[in-house]
Amino acid sequence: MGWQPLDLSDVMSVMRADVARVEDRLREEVRVEFPFVGEILQGLIDAGGKRLRPLTLLLAARPFSYDIERLLPAAVGVELLHTASLIHDDTVDRALLRRGRPTLNSIFSTETVILLGDYVFARSAMMAAQTMNPRVMQVFASSLAHICDGQLREIFTARELDQSFDDYRRRIFGKTASLFAGSAEMGAILGEADEPQIQALRRYGENLGMAFQIVDDVLDLRESTDEIGKPAGLDLRQGTITLPTMLFFELNRGNGHYAELVRRVVDGRGATDEDYATATAVIRESGALERALEIAAEYVRQAREALRIVPPGEGRDLLEVLAEASLSRTR
Ligand code: IPE
Ligand code: IPE
Ligand code: MG
Ligand code: MG
Repeated sequence: MGWQPLDLSDVMSVMRADVARVEDRLREEVRVEFPFVGEILQGLIDAGGKRLRPLTLLLAARPFSYDIERLLPAAVGVELLHTASLIHDDTVDRALLRRGRPTLNSIFSTETVILLGDYVFARSAMMAAQTMNPRVMQVFASSLAHICDGQLREIFTARELDQSFDDYRRRIFGKTASLFAGSAEMGAILGEADEPQIQALRRYGENLGMAFQIVDDVLDLRESTDEIGKPAGLDLRQGTITLPTMLFFELNRGNGHYAELVRRVVDGRGATDEDYATATAVIRESGALERALEIAAEYVRQAREALRIVPPGEGRDLLEVLAEASLSRTR
């Protein structure tokens, strides 16, 4: 038996040099000549996201034919696509903090920020084109369409209590899991995996992405703004019904004083700061967060299951650790 990676820091130590290549290229790609705007954009990149989408893409090629030169444009492309979607997401959400720093929309006008987001989207598409691989470009474009679909669903279902778990699943597949699915698929395509393996990697990414967003929705209710570097508790404030909130109603059978309070908070009208704090506390205490994490763990199990047809070895071990790490994260 050889060396076994145990946690995300082991994955990062194997991948450090290649992730550093991604970082360098990212910084080059978002260079804009408008001085102040350019600095803030660089600041967003420098504030260090977790880079999980490029990591997923690189690792998906790892059990096959791994060539960093061939993978780099796509890896940079998916992180830029993610960055652009955050710029627009924070504008839509009117969020003032991202990665522990003031958001672009807290500094510049909406018009400016929308165009900057568009600019980063365009740069991401240029990176996808640089792969010279039409199938990769197609996966890339369809991931972007799914992200928009998910974000639109979130807007149109806001404050709507009458939603099914399927509605929630469709929404988070669009806004988050689709890009993880696409990243893993692009990595497998560029790594020249065979067709069943490409499909398996896509399923891996999708399940990992579903788990990742469920955990994000738990962190929003459980952690502090300092810990997650973005405004905690924002989902309730915006009336976004996430899995923990749905499970809270299920566990309470929708009855009682506290269910009434959470309904009022979701509705938003006339809810006070104290109401938000109490609603957060009762959701935390209901067991809904633990139940949501169990559901996330089930997605991770399915992600690992998808890896069964991937050749065993270090590459597959790293993919397994990445999937597990999405559960235990705290930011
Ligand atoms: C934030 O993604 C948006 C979600 C899909 C939840 P990340 O948690 O990957 O954000 P960064 O890139 O590490 O900041
Ligand atoms: C992120 O979902 C969706 C994107 C595609 C950007 P969230 O709205 O939950 O992400 P955070 O919590 O702002 O990072
Ligand atoms: Mg958001
Ligand atoms: Mg969130």
